[in-house]
Amino acid sequence: MRQLQFFATLLLMNASVQFANADECVVAIDAGDALSYSKQAITIPSSCASATINFTHNGSLPAAVMGHNWVLAKTADLQGIQNDGNVAGMSGGYLKDGDSRILAATNIIGGGESASITFPTKSLEAGGDYSFFCTVMSHSVVMKGSFTISG
Ligand code: CO
Repeated sequence: MRQLQFFATLLLMNASVQFANADECVVAIDAGDALSYSKQAITIPSSCASATINFTHNGSLPAAVMGHNWVLAKTADLQGIQNDGNVAGMSGGYLKDGDSRILAATNIIGGGESASITFPTKSLEAGGDYSFFCTVMSHSVVMKGSFTISG
């Protein structure tokens, strides 16, 4: 009996090493009528083939007044993406069309709206310096957090 338990434990350990719990690959993050996200940091295990961000605006102001998006990029690219996003403006989703520096991005959402994005993590470097941020009206100055692929 004791031996069986031992082997069962080994099997469980093995399974957890090889396959990420699907829940670890899905992150819920909110924003409201202020310039902040509900999380300052997001970590996704490298064992996740893809990551899903479920982004909710739980405020009441419309997108034209207090819109938010969720954009992922190398931290070093944040400012350049923001600068070009400002040129694109609201009609361009505050992102330059076809900007290859953008690794993932949602649409702009307003109060009561939500957006979800799933993207492959294969090309992201474990331990690399990534940030998520909002490019609407230069919110990224304060509205940002760190994004890490662990393991
Ligand atoms: Co914002």
